[in-house]
Amino acid sequence: MPLSVVILAAGQGKRMASDLPKVLQPLAGRPLLAHVVATARCLAPDAIHIVYGHGGERVREALPAEELRWVLQAEQKGTGHAVAQAMHAIPDGHTVLVLYGDVPLIKAGTLRELVSRAGPQSLVLLSARLPDPAGYGRVIRDNAGRVVRIVEERDANHKEKAIPEINTGLLAAPAGRLRGWLEALRPDNAQGEYYLTDCIGAAVRDGIAVEAVLAASAGEVLGVNDKIQLAEVEAAHRRERATELMQRGVTIVDPARVDIRGEVSCGRDVMLEVNVILEGKVKLGDRVKVGPGCVLRDCEVGADTEIRAHSVIEGAVTGARCIVGPFARLRPGTRLADEVHVGNFVEVKNSVVGEGSKANHLSYVGDTTIGRKVNVGAGTVTCNYDGVNKHRTEIGDGAFIGSGTMLVAPVTVGADATIGAGSTITKPAPAGKLTVERSRQQVIENWKRPERKAGPGGAS
Ligand code: UD1
Ligand code: CA
Repeated sequence: MPLSVVILAAGQGKRMASDLPKVLQPLAGRPLLAHVVATARCLAPDAIHIVYGHGGERVREALPAEELRWVLQAEQKGTGHAVAQAMHAIPDGHTVLVLYGDVPLIKAGTLRELVSRAGPQSLVLLSARLPDPAGYGRVIRDNAGRVVRIVEERDANHKEKAIPEINTGLLAAPAGRLRGWLEALRPDNAQGEYYLTDCIGAAVRDGIAVEAVLAASAGEVLGVNDKIQLAEVEAAHRRERATELMQRGVTIVDPARVDIRGEVSCGRDVMLEVNVILEGKVKLGDRVKVGPGCVLRDCEVGADTEIRAHSVIEGAVTGARCIVGPFARLRPGTRLADEVHVGNFVEVKNSVVGEGSKANHLSYVGDTTIGRKVNVGAGTVTCNYDGVNKHRTEIGDGAFIGSGTMLVAPVTVGADATIGAGSTITKPAPAGKLTVERSRQQVIENWKRPERKAGPGGAS
């Protein structure tokens, strides 16, 4: 059967105590809702409908690039009412899979299972066994163990509250039948809402097979209602992603202190120190070491390269056997060839650095092409910006840039040129020559230090 996914995301999330709508609260740097959408995508559904309300346009704007059908639920009258809003656009012959925007860790495999068991005459809901089921709807079964209905906590009696099997809220049902059950819902319950869960009882009455699939782990059905649960879900996600990498052979010194937020591909014997954050698309070659406190986003690091403590790398590519950091920053458009050293407090942006070249201390290299075996002395700055435009600096193979040099772009330094320390270079520096731009050092022979005048107050 064709598949339509409906994601409920209209709730306000009062307990977040935040101006940001609940489904936009960040998990691993992305909105909760984006995680649910990404997982739904894995099922290749015919359409994804998002029921939104609170936070309105902000929620839509947070997922601009996605092909989604937005359905406004102007007033939040309950989960059943929310799903009903999306049903107008869903044909009878579809399977409807209902997901929650605030249950972000759900696995694609679990959803596939739900969908594969649902059919024209069967409804499947996802249940879970929780050590503390308080707050959730409970799954009521008859003596034969068949699901009969769901009762909400607030509508449950003592005996029902003792049931450990809870309703996660996620379900798959045939669209035509679901439409009928939703239309028949009545808000006659403790909250005066239209409960999606009442469709279960209605299905049973209609002789539809209702099955509850138990979630493999309680972790994937964790809902996020407040900042405490948000942190718990973040921790669960962190551990899960770290575990994946460790299973692929990555050494992680402390999996509770590494955040894998993007798509990471790793070679063999990669090692991640504590407090490393990997975001976006990150590719780490064999035996790469990432030191403590590093942030790597959308980058590629060559084999045997070492990223030392507290370096930030974004949109950059390094070759093999490089040393970057500690405290280095590689910005977008940076390409380091093999065996390049970029040391402490060095920033490189939109620049190509040739094999074996070094900039080890306190430098800014922007919009620059550096050849092979170049030495960039401490405190060198490429002055690439004139206040309006950016200009390039070209440095030939084997050049030696003395410490404290200002290279005022556009400017070129020839191969094997030497620039004397402290020079401000505004004109081409020829290959193989020493270029110095600074006033001559003088010694003043008869100069004397001023002496303190004697007398009252002179010594204060
Ligand atoms: C719901 C279930 C409960 C289940 C629990 C699991 C019902 C009646 N109850 O309860 O059995 O154990 O989830 O977490 O369904 N939403 C809308 N529009 C609305 C109301 C809710 O979009 O009018 C969205 C919320 O944003 C949220 C989701 O639906 O993402 C669940 O709503 P919530 O009010 O949190 O339901 P619970 O009371 O937790
Ligand atoms: Ca909830």
